[in-house]
Amino acid sequence: MYVLSSTSKYLIILLPSFLLLHIHVQAEDPILQQCSNIANYTSNSQFETNLNHLLPSLLSNGTRDGFFNTSIGTAPDIVYGLVSCRGDLSMEQCRTCLYNATVEVFQRCPNRKEALLLYGYCILRYSNNHFFSKVDTNPRALYNTGKVSETDAAHFNQQLSNLLNNLSATAASRPSKFDSGRTDYKPLTRIESLVQCTRDLSDSDCSYCLRSLIAYIPICCDNNQGGHFYTTTCTVKFEIYPFLQFPPQSFFPPFDASPPQSKAIPSPRVETSPTQSNIGSSNQCC
Ligand SMILES: *[C@@H]1O[C@H](CO)[C@@H](O)[C@H](O)[C@H]1NC(C)=O
Ligand SMILES: *[C@@H]1O[C@H](CO)[C@@H](O)[C@H](O)[C@H]1NC(C)=O
Ligand SMILES: *[C@@H]1O[C@H](CO)[C@@H](O)[C@H](O)[C@H]1NC(C)=O
Ligand SMILES: *[C@@H]1O[C@H](CO)[C@@H](O)[C@H](O)[C@H]1NC(C)=O
Ligand SMILES: *[C@@H]1O[C@H](CO)[C@@H](O)[C@H](O)[C@H]1NC(C)=O
Repeated sequence: MYVLSSTSKYLIILLPSFLLLHIHVQAEDPILQQCSNIANYTSNSQFETNLNHLLPSLLSNGTRDGFFNTSIGTAPDIVYGLVSCRGDLSMEQCRTCLYNATVEVFQRCPNRKEALLLYGYCILRYSNNHFFSKVDTNPRALYNTGKVSETDAAHFNQQLSNLLNNLSATAASRPSKFDSGRTDYKPLTRIESLVQCTRDLSDSDCSYCLRSLIAYIPICCDNNQGGHFYTTTCTVKFEIYPFLQFPPQSFFPPFDASPPQSKAIPSPRVETSPTQSNIGSSNQCC
């Protein structure tokens, strides 16, 4: 089972893995949806016109290299917007996710002056308030309830911690704010991971954001075999099965083509769900 948790005390049980896979293929629902109730716009308002210009601009410019932020209009009708795709995706995967986000945001957050949709593959966020460069360290998790065995736990946690710290340091210093890699954990089993910040963050805020997620892992999910840990400005994902996508046209070749601590992974991989044996039954979290 995968379980969604957050510090804001809600817990949504998702579905067994075979259904999770189904969801990935069929209808990609946001992992996090925030529609602000503080301010709404009316039909035919200047704000609506600005938003209608913003979303296509985010889609077309964001698809080009996986991230884009801009604003349209002037106060009081200004709208700020940002899109970000997971750093290992192809342009096509990025475009599909962003396209759906820009379509769905009108259905999911009708008339809102502020909205955020966070999917497994991308984020779309817009607001009448300036939010660029503001780090969010409120951690949430969607985790694999499978547990590492007691005998393996110390070694697993050591390897995971080294990997995440290494990846975070590299990601924070890169313009792409992304890194991914793998480490051996036991024979035939590797931990695969990615870390990423939205590119509007400074190096130090990215590092701070990722550290807040890494610190949350043992609090939330000690000895769990995997999970997707995130705030609205950064992400840490790890699993003991391959999930990274490395298509040839992946973004940022100058920076990410040969990450120092990761081995090259052959051709595109399809995201898999863990095998039944990896799946535990416990699902309580903080
Ligand atoms: C995007 O939307 C299309 C059309 O609604 C749908 O067929 C597709 O599965 C969606 N893809 C994702 C990744 O949500
Ligand atoms: C905005 O719209 C939502 C949904 O209709 C409503 O719940 C909310 O109270 C509205 N907010 C304001 C400030 O009018
Ligand atoms: C972004 O894309 C739009 C097309 O939707 C284009 O008109 C615009 O010049 C691009 N650049 C910026 C900075 O918005
Ligand atoms: C995008 O965000 C960065 C970081 O806050 C900012 O410096 C830049 O001006 C923003 N771009 C636009 C077009 O607003
Ligand atoms: C982390 O980096 C250190 C120093 O570069 C290296 O010795 C170690 O093997 C790396 N660990 C992992 C798990 O990538």
